Amino acid sequence: MTDTNPTTGSAASPSLENLLHETRSFPPSEEFAAQANAQADLYEKASADRLEFWAAQARELVTWKTPFTETLDWSGAPVARWFADGTLNAAYNAVDRHVEAGNGDRVAIHFEGEPGDTRTVTYADLQREVSRAANALTALGVQTGDRVVIYLPMLVESVVAMLACARIGAAHSVVFGGFSADALRSRIADAEATLVITADGGYRRGAPSALKPAVDEALAPKEGADPTTVRNVLVVRRTEQDVDWVEGRDVWWHEALAAASDQHEPVAVEAEHPLFILYTSGTTGKPKGILHTTGGYLTQAAYTHKNVFDLKPETDVYWCTADVGWVTGHSYVVYGPLVNGATQVLYEGTPDTPHRGRWWELIEKYKVSILYTAPTAIRTCMKWGDDIPGGFDLSSLRVLGSVGEPINPEAWMWYRRVIGGDKAPIVDTWWQTETGAIMISPLPGVTATKPGSAQVALPGIAATVVDDEAQPVPDGGGGYLVLSEPWPSMLRGIWGDLERYKETYWSRFDGLYFAGDGAKKDEDGDIWLLGRVDDVMNVSGHRLSTTEIESALVSHEIVAEAAVVGAADDTTGQAVVAFVILRGSHAGRASTPEGAAEVQKELRDHVGKEIGPIAKPKKILVVPELPKTRSGKIMRRLLRDVAEDRAVGDATTLADSSVMDLITAGLAAPS
Ligand code: WTA
Repeated sequence: MTDTNPTTGSAASPSLENLLHETRSFPPSEEFAAQANAQADLYEKASADRLEFWAAQARELVTWKTPFTETLDWSGAPVARWFADGTLNAAYNAVDRHVEAGNGDRVAIHFEGEPGDTRTVTYADLQREVSRAANALTALGVQTGDRVVIYLPMLVESVVAMLACARIGAAHSVVFGGFSADALRSRIADAEATLVITADGGYRRGAPSALKPAVDEALAPKEGADPTTVRNVLVVRRTEQDVDWVEGRDVWWHEALAAASDQHEPVAVEAEHPLFILYTSGTTGKPKGILHTTGGYLTQAAYTHKNVFDLKPETDVYWCTADVGWVTGHSYVVYGPLVNGATQVLYEGTPDTPHRGRWWELIEKYKVSILYTAPTAIRTCMKWGDDIPGGFDLSSLRVLGSVGEPINPEAWMWYRRVIGGDKAPIVDTWWQTETGAIMISPLPGVTATKPGSAQVALPGIAATVVDDEAQPVPDGGGGYLVLSEPWPSMLRGIWGDLERYKETYWSRFDGLYFAGDGAKKDEDGDIWLLGRVDDVMNVSGHRLSTTEIESALVSHEIVAEAAVVGAADDTTGQAVVAFVILRGSHAGRASTPEGAAEVQKELRDHVGKEIGPIAKPKKILVVPELPKTRSGKIMRRLLRDVAEDRAVGDATTLADSSVMDLITAGLAAPS
C-alpha cells in the first residue's frame, strides 16, 4: 500500500469536496425508460435469489451443449466455479448460433481501416472465416488447452483469431500492439504459448507501423532466457511492408486459411475451461496473467452488454472504441456484442487521422446508436472544440458509455451535451480486467444519472465501500471498494500463481475482494470511484505499474535509483513522472539544460524499449535524493506534490526531512 488517502483518492481523481458539490441528476426520458431492456424489477429479481438470477441469465443468454445443474461452487474459495457441470463453446455462442437462428445475413462487423478501406462482415462470413482459422490452427498443431499469443492491430482478423482459439478450446492471450518485444517475450514465456498470431503491421497516424519485427525479436534466443516454446508464427498481411521470414516457423495467415476448410465443429468445453489470459500491471514489477474461463465469463459479458447498453440487436449499431489488447476489447468488442448478435463498428486507427472529426464521421456514416469510450478520449475531443463533432450528424446516438477511469463531471457534461444531444443517457461503467465484465453502472432506463459517478452495483453484483477495519462506511463516508460476493465473470486466478492471487485480492480484508480503488458513498448511497489506492497508475485508461517503470529505469546503466508517480493530467487522467538519481560518474550529465534533455530522451526511449511506448514517462526529473521514510519506503505523495507543482505536504516522517528542500531547490534552479 502507498500513502494515498482513500478519502481523497489519487491525484488524478476528483476530490471528495468537489464531488460533494455535484448535485445534478438526469433521469431517463419516459420514452427511453419504457423501451429499455432493463427495468427496475431487475434489482428485485436479483436480490430475491441471487444464484437463481444468474442461473436464469446463463440459460437465457448463452447456449449450452450440456446444460449445467449446479450454479456456484465456492467451496474452493477464492477460486469460484460457476455452472461447472455444463459444457459449451464460446465461438459457437458468438457466431454459429446466430446463423442457425436465421441471422446469417446480419452484419457483425463494419470494419473501417485507417486509410479508409472498408469491409463488411456478416455473421455467416464470420462463421466461415472463424472455421477456416480454427482448422488452420489445428493444422499447425494447436490443441485444446494450449495457449496462443495474439499480437495484432485492430483488424477483423483479430476478432477471428480470438474466436478461432475459443473454437478449439485453446486459451488466447492478446498482447496490446503498443507493448515492446521484451514485454511480449515475457508474456509468451509466462503463458508458455506455442503459437503467435501477428501482422506485418497496421496503420497508425497515417502511416504503416510494423509489428512483426517485435515478434521476431521476442522469439530470438536470448542469453539467460529459456528457449521459446513457440513453434509457429501466423502472419496477417495488412500493410504489405517487408518482413523478415523464418522458414519453417512463419506462415502467412491468408495462405493457411485458404488451404483450410470452412467447416469446423466447435469443441464443447467445460464451463470452467480457460478462455483467455490477459496480462495486466500489478503493484510489483511482474505483470499478472489474469485468467478467465468460459461459462461464467460469457454469461456476464452478455448480460451486462444487453442491460447496460440497452442493446437491441436488430436495430442498434454499436461501437466500442477500445483495442482488443485490453479487457474492454475482449468483453465489449468481441464476446459481449457477438454473443448478443450485435452489429458493430471496428475501427483500426487513431481518432485524429486524417482529421479530428474521424470518429464523428464514422458515427454519422454507420448511424452508430451506442458508443462506448474512455474519459481520456472525451477530454481530448473536448479540447479540440465543440465545432468538430458539431459538423456531423450524431442524432443516431441513444446510449453513451464511459470506462477506464473516473470521469470528471465537466467531461461527463460535455459528453452528454455535445455528443449525446442532451438526451442520450450516459452509463459510467466501473470494472477491471479481473472482474471480466461491468460491475457498477447506472441502468440507462432506470437510474437518474449523476455526472462523475458509476453509482450502483448491477443487479446480481454485491459491491460496497469499507473502512480500514473492513466495516461498511455509512452514506457520506469514504474508504475502499470491495466486492462481497463471487460473480460469474470473476477471474479464476493469476496464471501459474495461485498464492499471488490470494495475496493480491483476498488478503487485505477477510472474505472480501479488494479492488485496489478508493471510493465514497454519497448521501443517496451511490458509489463514486476515486482512483487507485495502490502503486498502479491509470494513464489514458491504461493500467501501468510504478514499480514496473522504476525497474525499467534502474535497468539503464546511468540510473542509480528511480521513483515513479502518476501526476494529475488534464487529458490522460494521470501522466507518468519519474524522479531519477544518476550513477556517480554520470551525475554531472544533467547539469545543463541540453544534458538534461539528452538524459530524458535516453531514458524515455529505454522505458519504451523495455515495456512499450505507452509507459514512457512524460517527464523525467534528475534529483540528488529521493524522499524515504525511516523504513526506506519512498514517499510518493511528496513526489506527487512536486510533480503537480503544489506546496510539498507534511514531510515529518522522512528519514531526512531536508531531502525535499534539496529536490525542490534543485528543480527550481538547475545549476
Ligand atoms: C479504473 C478497465 C472509475 C479503476 C475496464 C479500475 C474506473 C481500473 C472506471 C481497471 C470507472 C475503470 N470509474 N475508475 N468507470 N473503470 N476504472 O483492468 O481504477 O484496465 O481498478 O480495466 O481502472 O483497469 P483495467
